[in-house]
Amino acid sequence: MGGHKPLKTINAMYDLIIQDATIVSSQGRQVADIAVEGGKVAYVGSRPAGRAHETISAIGKFIMPGVIDTHVHFRDPGHNHKETWETGSRAAVSGGVTTVLDMPNTRPTTTDLEALQDKRERASANSRANFGIWAGATANNTDDLNKMVDAGAVGIKIFMGSSTGPLLVPPEAMESIFAKTRGLIGCHAEDESILRDVHAQHADNPSPKHHEVRPAAAALAAVERLIELVEAHNRHVHICHLSTADEMHLLTPVKNRLPISVEACPHHLFLSAETSEALGNLSKCNPPVRPELDRKAMWTAINRGRIDTIGSDHAPHTLEEKAAEYWKAPSGLPGVETSLPLLLSAVKFGKVSLERMVDLMSERPAALFGLTNKGSIQEGKDADLVLFREGEITKLKDSDLLTMVGWSPFLGRDVGVKPELVVVNGRIVSRSGT
Ligand code: NCD
Ligand code: ZN
Ligand code: ZN
Ligand code: ZN
Repeated sequence: MGGHKPLKTINAMYDLIIQDATIVSSQGRQVADIAVEGGKVAYVGSRPAGRAHETISAIGKFIMPGVIDTHVHFRDPGHNHKETWETGSRAAVSGGVTTVLDMPNTRPTTTDLEALQDKRERASANSRANFGIWAGATANNTDDLNKMVDAGAVGIKIFMGSSTGPLLVPPEAMESIFAKTRGLIGCHAEDESILRDVHAQHADNPSPKHHEVRPAAAALAAVERLIELVEAHNRHVHICHLSTADEMHLLTPVKNRLPISVEACPHHLFLSAETSEALGNLSKCNPPVRPELDRKAMWTAINRGRIDTIGSDHAPHTLEEKAAEYWKAPSGLPGVETSLPLLLSAVKFGKVSLERMVDLMSERPAALFGLTNKGSIQEGKDADLVLFREGEITKLKDSDLLTMVGWSPFLGRDVGVKPELVVVNGRIVSRSGT
């Protein structure tokens, strides 16, 4: 970045100029003008030499590179009554998310090349956001996994414990996935045998506490196993939705020498078992919302640089489905459009800096997932931009929500307002949360 360089074309006509924006990166802030042309950032500096089809004043406002949410479940194909590429991506961009990576527990599951291509066609036709697709591991699809990775899947997703949907990798298959496949491995790290044992102990109770049915010990055991596998195979593992102090404790001494990265989700940062009892099944998700002690540890980890990314784990289920009794209600919460507003509230209340927020939500995800044209606002990079106000707080209400399921576990909470302007590949795709 930086202002004084020779002007490329006198009287250029850009698609869009954003003037006097405070551009935020992990390294700090800089006030500049941004010119966009052909889907790319064409200029960042003091004054672009030209005019634009649209010029926007951003004086006093912030611009960050688009949020990259590496963990969404858009339910398309197969569960289109919960979300689709169209509705999910619309919700995403309204909340500043310009790239989503979609998980494989759709129906059919994304476990072979055909399913990958089919999902890609649906997304290409309907998504307002950039997208990537995760390949789902099964007990015996290593060849399919490599074909999907070669065809551009963003990574291989392993469910070590069963969650929503049929995907589950048994312990004896882990070794061969690590040995025979390529690319990044993302893990839902809960140990299935512990989950089963503890589940059985609670089977007589019609309304147990979800965090007791899926205890921290299950997550800890799975992370322990992952560390062994990474040590043996030197594969990059991205641990999804880390949620406990114990896992952090285990990872901290090894994380710098092993290729392990860690995701935190807003619901583990903003909800706890103690504070979400009234939500009932609306807070039921895997791994569960944990006790306050864990929630606080997650914030410490964020500010100590121990967490790499924030992913929403956007996992919509309908209110009707959630109204079932505890054992029948599906696990998962919508969240793709509320993660940036929630983080902005944390900035406002001094829990995290804007710079760290940009690092967690855009820069690090871009770097870890090899999205080299994303994650920063520089000439030549993709024009995925989010213009927002900092410091303005509102109470989240259901009319703010664009997800098909129309609810959020964060309704009524203080959140930052949705971005004023969201640009995907140089095009304005959302204004003021619409
Ligand atoms: C997710 C879903 O509904 O797809 N549910 C959840 O509770 N997080 C699956 C998952 O990410 O484990
Ligand atoms: Zn033009
Ligand atoms: Zn999961
Ligand atoms: Zn998930």
